[in-house]
Amino acid sequence: MSAPVSAVSAVSAPSTVTVTVTARRPLTARVDEFRLEPAAPGVLPGWTPGAHLDVTVPGGGAGEALVRQYSLCSDPADRSGYTIAVDRAADSRGGSTALHELATVGTPLQVGEPRNHFPLTRALNYVFVAGGIGVTPMIALAAQVARSDRPWRMLCLARTTDAMPYLPELRSTFGGAVSFHGSSGGRVDLAAELADLPRGTAVYVCGPGTLADDVAAVVADQPAVDVFTEQFTAPDTSGETTSFDVSLASSGETFTVPSDASVLSVLEDHGRLVASSCREGMCGTCEVEVVSGEVDHRDAVLTPEERAENESMMVCVSRCFSGRLVLDL
Ligand code: FES
Repeated sequence: MSAPVSAVSAVSAPSTVTVTVTARRPLTARVDEFRLEPAAPGVLPGWTPGAHLDVTVPGGGAGEALVRQYSLCSDPADRSGYTIAVDRAADSRGGSTALHELATVGTPLQVGEPRNHFPLTRALNYVFVAGGIGVTPMIALAAQVARSDRPWRMLCLARTTDAMPYLPELRSTFGGAVSFHGSSGGRVDLAAELADLPRGTAVYVCGPGTLADDVAAVVADQPAVDVFTEQFTAPDTSGETTSFDVSLASSGETFTVPSDASVLSVLEDHGRLVASSCREGMCGTCEVEVVSGEVDHRDAVLTPEERAENESMMVCVSRCFSGRLVLDL
């Protein structure tokens, strides 16, 4: 995780840069690739494999601007532009559909600086499990591992080969390290695919639905095997909510968070503005340090270990089990 935001008392929106769509091509029937280059002369902020980009998409469903996250899938060494791939069906809340409909070559877009919640960890072996559009962060991750002497392989999952973005490029570049399973022929046998992984294996998973949970369950009993996940669908935050209090460590002010409001919105209502982007628990922008209180984590950013540490929270979606939270604000 990146360092949590702390002691923010004024508007602190993530910095953005204007880019232009300079190329667009279909990868599958649902997925298009967009090349984004700086609108003004210069290079773009750098990034590391696994990073994503916040893209402000104009003209969402109700005409409002939407901020959506897309993994960067080009070469981090190329600072002349970013490449993202967008699945029209992956975002049921309108952002990806709007991007498909509105972003043509020449369209200006606002993007944030790349951020990485899915970085490459040190491991002895790597397995990348990519479900459909979930392949996008894996491309740069795999390329980095491929430059090392560590063994690795990638399992690509989609209904058919035609529905798997970048499969031809991956096979061409990495050969036999990349395998494919088509669900049109039956559900993948993850237990067999991930059986008896060597100690020190890092399993990276990105894909739809319960893929990450399924992979975690399959390797749970294997010693010294760690699973790293990236989600691109918003977490389900529809669970029961109750009101609670949130206090600011710096001033001692205490506000009540009603059951139908977020910590973030309550802070904003009281003029304590925290940087935010997706406001759906996906991007990590609104992470705030927790001084005390038991957090009801509802985001898709923190790992189970980070949740257990209870040191920070995403104030856009996470709530409270203990009746009161004290935040480092
Ligand atoms: S604003 Fe994106 S996680 Fe809260």
